[in-house]
Amino acid sequence: MLIFDKKLHLLTYLSTIVSDKASLGFVPTMGALHLGHLSLIKESLLNNEITVVSVFVNPTQFNNPNDLSNYPRTLEKDIDKIKSISCKVIIYAPTVDDIYEGKTITEHFNFDGLEKLMEGQFRPGHFDGVGTVVKRLFEIVKPTNAYFGEKDFQQLLIIKKLVKTFRIPVNIIICPVFREPNGLAMSSRNERLSSDEKNEAALIYKTIKEVKIKFKTESVLSISNWVEKQFKTVPNLKLEYFEIADETFLLPCKRKNKNTNYRAFIAVYVNNVRLIDTISLN
Ligand code: PAJ
Repeated sequence: MLIFDKKLHLLTYLSTIVSDKASLGFVPTMGALHLGHLSLIKESLLNNEITVVSVFVNPTQFNNPNDLSNYPRTLEKDIDKIKSISCKVIIYAPTVDDIYEGKTITEHFNFDGLEKLMEGQFRPGHFDGVGTVVKRLFEIVKPTNAYFGEKDFQQLLIIKKLVKTFRIPVNIIICPVFREPNGLAMSSRNERLSSDEKNEAALIYKTIKEVKIKFKTESVLSISNWVEKQFKTVPNLKLEYFEIADETFLLPCKRKNKNTNYRAFIAVYVNNVRLIDTISLN
């Protein structure tokens, strides 16, 4: 298993194995790997000769310093988890300096307003940080295919926009949401939940699954009111936002249009742990 913490070493190694014909799959992560991440890595292993996984807690995408310092860092365990599926994976686990070269500066992007909604509204600057690091990682790794989870659907649209704007020659591959047996979307942040909190957090997926059924017959307003009511009954859960939006521009759905694909988006605090989830409504 090859693990690099310096881009120079990674690049030198990649230059010896990458040929014109070999496709390179890339899975960017912030570590604290779970089965959701591993499903992305497996998809890359299936479809590429070479797979690179980055493990990097990117400081510029955290608008809340506590969230950054509390973010789990479990590199040894992450390496073992990757090893358990394949020793062929190349891991790039850089330091902040290796990525930012002494200047932890965020680039500012225009993602056509996608960056201002939902996650962008509640985590100002978050998508500038994501764009900054993913652009750098793409420049370093130069992947053929890059794998992203549908769970972070807004991030996925932002990355697609980034690739288009900067004409980065990479295919963005979408992977489905991997869930705990109780439906809770897997997330590195779940590690900070007690088992009671995990049980309570199951309400998030239970609610959006019900939203999918209600969306066939009910108005967006009545669904939104119903969702708010669900969370008012559980003291440890606080609904931050619930939105039904189209899948292209993420604009709130006011009146349903037959030819538009819609999706529900939700962010909930379980005590002080912030979780997000999403479901397609078509
Ligand atoms: P991170 O939260 O570690 O997620 C890495 C990738 O795993 C993302 O594409 C995310 O959507 C996907 N993922 C997370 N939970 C998942 C689940 N339950 N099922 C399937 N896929 C899941 O997203 C980031 O890191 C960062 O913003 C990053 C893109 C690495 C930039 O720093």
